[in-house]
Amino acid sequence: MTTNLPMVLSVTSGKGGVGKTNISVNLAYNLSRMGKKVVLLDADLGLANVDVLLGIAPKLNLFHLFHEGSKLQDVIFKTSYGFDILPASSGVGDMVSLSTGQKLDLLEAMDYLEDEVDYLIVDTGAGINDNVLYFNLAVQERLLVLTPEPTSLTDAYALIKVMKLNHGVDRFRVMINMAPDMKSAKEVFSKLYKACDHFLSGVSLDLVGVIPRDQEMRKAVIKQTPVCSMSPGCPACRTLEETAKKITNWKPTSELDGNIKFFWKKLLFQEQSVA
Ligand SMILES: Nc1ncnc2c1ncn2[C@@H]1O[C@H](COP(=O)(O)OP(=O)(O)OP(=O)(O)O)[C@@H](O)[C@H]1O
Ligand SMILES: [Mg+2]
Repeated sequence: MTTNLPMVLSVTSGKGGVGKTNISVNLAYNLSRMGKKVVLLDADLGLANVDVLLGIAPKLNLFHLFHEGSKLQDVIFKTSYGFDILPASSGVGDMVSLSTGQKLDLLEAMDYLEDEVDYLIVDTGAGINDNVLYFNLAVQERLLVLTPEPTSLTDAYALIKVMKLNHGVDRFRVMINMAPDMKSAKEVFSKLYKACDHFLSGVSLDLVGVIPRDQEMRKAVIKQTPVCSMSPGCPACRTLEETAKKITNWKPTSELDGNIKFFWKKLLFQEQSVA
C-alpha cells in the first residue's frame, strides 16, 4: 500500500518511431528501481510494442477484462524487471462503447491499482488519432517525445495544437531523443517553443531531458532488454535515470487529477470522437 497519490503520465508523440516505447519501458524500470510501484499501460493498440521490446507475450489483456470476466490482477503481467504491464489491445472506442454497468465494474476493478500503484505510465501509439488523444486527455502529465528531425517537430506541434485548441490542454513535458549533440537538441526545443509561443498562446513546455543517439539503445532493442538494465551508465541511460528522478518530484496538480480511477473515468466516459 502506497501513501502518496498515484500519478498517471503518458509518453506520446506526433510522429512514430521516435522512441516512446523505449522511454516508457526504461522510465518504468528506473522508477521501480527507486522503490516505486509502476504499471506500464501498453496503449499502442494492436502493435503491442512493449511486448516486443521485452520479449514477453502476455496471454490476457483489457479485452479479457471487459468481455470475458478476467480479473485485473490476472491481466496485469509481472515482468522480471520490477514493473508490471497492463496490455490494452482493444481501442478506446471499444471501451467508450461498453455498457454503463461494464464501465462501473471496470472502475471498481481499478481500485486495485489505486491502492497498489505509484505510477501508471501510458505508452501511446503514434499519430493524432482518437486513441492517442483519448489517452492524452485522460492522463495527468504528458511527456512529448521528439527527435531533431523536422517532421518530428511539425508532428509534435500538430499534436500540441489539437490538444490546446480543441481540448484546452496547455502543459507539456518535452523529451528530445536521438540527439546527435546538445546543440541540435536545444535548437529543436527552441523551435517548438517559439512556434507555440507565437501561435498557441498559453502553452507551457518544460524540457525534461535530452537523450543522445546511443548504439546501446539499438542493441538493447535487439536483445529485448531495457537498455538501463543491459548497459547501465551508458549516455542514454544517464538521461533516463535523471528523468525518472525528476518525475518523482512532480506533484499532482490536484488530488483528483492524480487519481488512477479518475483517469479511467475520464477515459471511459469521453465523447466518441475527439480528433
Ligand atoms: N536514443 C536512441 N539512440 C539510438 N536509437 C534509438 C534511440 N531511441 C530509440 N532508438 C531506436 O528507435 C527505434 C524506435 O524506438 P521505439 O520503438 O521506442 O519508438 P516508438 O516511438 O515507440 O515507435 P512507434 O511510434 O512505432 O510506437 C528503436 O528500434 C530503437 O532502436
Ligand atoms: Mg512504440
